[in-house]
Amino acid sequence: MSDEETPPVAPKADDALRERVAELEALFPEFVSEGRVDLEKVQAFLGSNVSDTPERYQLNWAGKRDAMGILQAPRRGALAPRKEESINFDETGHAFVEGENLEVLKLLYKAYFGRIKMIYIDPPFNTGNDFIYSDNFAAPLENYLKFTRQMDASGNLLTSNPETSGRFHSAWLSMMYPRLFVARQLLRDDGMIFVSIDDHELHDLRLILNELFGEESFAACFVWQRRQKADSRTLDRASTDHEYVVAYRNPKAALRGEDIDVTKFTNPDNDSRGPWFSADLTGLATKEQRPNLHYSVTDPKTGIVYPPSPTRGWSISNEKFQKNIGEDRIIWPSKPSGRPRLKKFLNEVRSFQTGFSTILDVGYTTDGTREIQAIFGEKILQFPKPVGLIKSFVRQATSGDDIVLDFFAGTCPTAEAVWQANREDGGKRRVVLIQLPEPTGRADFRTIAAIGKERMRRAIRAMNSESRKQARIDPQIPEDLGFRAFSLVASNFRQWDETKPPDADEYQRQLALMIDPLKKGWDVDSVLWEVALREGYPLASRITVIESVTTNTVYRISNLELGQTFTLCLDPKLSPETVRQLGLRKTDLFICRDAALDDEIAANVALQCHLKTL
Ligand SMILES: C[S@@+](CC[C@H](N)C(=O)[O-])C[C@H]1O[C@@H](n2cnc3c(N)ncnc32)[C@H](O)[C@@H]1O
Repeated sequence: MSDEETPPVAPKADDALRERVAELEALFPEFVSEGRVDLEKVQAFLGSNVSDTPERYQLNWAGKRDAMGILQAPRRGALAPRKEESINFDETGHAFVEGENLEVLKLLYKAYFGRIKMIYIDPPFNTGNDFIYSDNFAAPLENYLKFTRQMDASGNLLTSNPETSGRFHSAWLSMMYPRLFVARQLLRDDGMIFVSIDDHELHDLRLILNELFGEESFAACFVWQRRQKADSRTLDRASTDHEYVVAYRNPKAALRGEDIDVTKFTNPDNDSRGPWFSADLTGLATKEQRPNLHYSVTDPKTGIVYPPSPTRGWSISNEKFQKNIGEDRIIWPSKPSGRPRLKKFLNEVRSFQTGFSTILDVGYTTDGTREIQAIFGEKILQFPKPVGLIKSFVRQATSGDDIVLDFFAGTCPTAEAVWQANREDGGKRRVVLIQLPEPTGRADFRTIAAIGKERMRRAIRAMNSESRKQARIDPQIPEDLGFRAFSLVASNFRQWDETKPPDADEYQRQLALMIDPLKKGWDVDSVLWEVALREGYPLASRITVIESVTTNTVYRISNLELGQTFTLCLDPKLSPETVRQLGLRKTDLFICRDAALDDEIAANVALQCHLKTL
C-alpha cells in the first residue's frame, strides 16, 4: 500500500476531550502515549492513591459511560449565517445560534476555549413535564437533523421525561453532563457559571458541578424568590416560592459585590473627623451565652447609666466600649431608656463594597411574563426568566467587553440583560446564545428559537427608540445593539463513512470521493464559517472579499481581538496571478482546496506562506 492509500485515521476524541488528555499529559507525560492514557501506568505511579474499590464516594448513574462517550463523537455540523434574520450582522459582536447545544458547543470549542467570562443557563428542570433532548450517542448530529426535519427520515424526538420512566434522574444527568463538561472548558480562568435550577435536580446539579469543577470551586447557591403570593393549590400545603441559581467559579473569579450606601454618612454636628453614620451597638447573645458582653455603661457628661439589653447585650467588649467613649464616638441618648450608638466615620471605611447577598430580590416570574407580554402583546411562552435576575449576575460577574454565554437561551432574556447592563454602565459585553428550534405548536412562531430571535429584534427596536438620556452613559459611546444569527446545519465536508464495510472496493470509492472534500451543493457562506470556526475564529469575526484580487474570489477572515487574519479561496482552480496579487508573507495563513493547486503553485505558495488545503 502506497502512502497515498494509507487509510484515514479513525476519528479521535473531539477537541474537548483531547484537550483534557493534553492537560494530563502536560502534568504527567508518562501517563499518555500517542494520545491515549495508559491506565496501568497511572495505577503503577499513583499506587495506593488510586481507588479501585467499588465502594467509594462517586457520582454514577445508568448511562454515564455513554454520556461521556458522546464527547468523543466527532463534530459533523457547521454553522450557516442567517443574515436576513439578524440585526446589524456586519457590525455586531452578539450572536445567536439556532441548534442543538452540545453540537454547537463542540463547534464553538476552539474559538471560545478559555474566552467566556460568564455562563448563565436555565436548563430544563426535569419536572416530569419538560422535554429532555435525547442524545443519540452513535450519531449525534443525525439526531438533530431528524429533529429539525433537515433529514429525510422523520422521527419524533420530542420526548418528555416522566417520573415513572425508571431513568428519571439518569436521563437528565446524561443530558447535562457532557454539555457542562464542554462549557467548563470555555470559561476563562476568572470565569463563573450560574445555573438556574429548582428542587427537582438541585442535588444532582451540585454533584455534576462538583465533579467537573471541583468542590472547592463552589461559590454560592443563590435563592431567588420567584413567586410573590403563596401557592394555595398544593396538596401538602407547602408553597415553594423560590428557585436556586447555583454558582461555581474558576480560581481567579470573584463577584463585584454591592456598593455600600455612602449617602447615609452625614455630619450634622460638624465633627472634625468628617461624615459619619450612627451604628447599632447591641449584640445578639443573652447573658448566659456571652456574659462578657453584658455590662452597664455610663455617660461621662450626664452620669446616666445604660444597662445592656437583656436579650442581646452589646456587640463589643467593655474595653472597646470604654475606648470609644474616650474618643468621643458614642452618641448618648437623651433618655435612660434609650441605647447608646456608635459614630462610624466615612474616612475609616475599609471597603466601599459589601458581599452580594445569596438571597435575591430581583423580580419575580410574573415580571418575566410581563416583559415578554409587553414585547409580544401576549404570554407567548410560560415562565420566562425576568431580565433583572440575569442582569444582576451579569453586573456582578462581568464588565468591559466580557463574553456571556447562555446555551439554553429560550426566549433570550440573557440578551436583554447584557444589553441593559451595557447601557447602564457603558460596558461592551457581548452575548452568545444557543437555542434548540423546539416546536411551539404555533403557526406564527413555530419554534422557541424563532420566539427568541423575534424577542431580540423587538427589544432592540424598543431600546433604539428609548431615550439614551435616561441612561447614565455618554450618548457618544457607540452602542452595540444587534445580533448575528446562525443555524446548525450538516457539515459541508464529506465525512469518511465508517459504517461501510472496510473492504478494498469501498475504500477506493470513498477515497475517490475525498478528492474533493466538499459535498455536492455546498454553501459558500456556511463553508467560510465552518473553516473560520475550525481555525479558532469566533462568531464576531469579519469575513470580506479581497477586492484587489481579480483572478479568483479570495476571502479575508479577520478578528480584531485575536489580532489574526487568514485568507481563503474556495475556487476549483487557483490562478498564479492570484498568488502574485495576494503578496503572501511567511506568517500568513492561506487556505484553499487541495484540487485547486497544481504541483508548481502548491510548491510556490507553500514557500511563501503557511498553506493549508481543504
Ligand atoms: C427553561 S427553558 C429556558 C428559558 C429561558 N431562560 C427564558 O427565560 O426564556 C430551557 C430551554 O432550553 C432549550 N433546550 C433544551 N434542550 C436543548 C438543547 N439540547 N440544545 C439547545 N436548547 C435546548 C429548550 O428548548 C428550552 O427553551
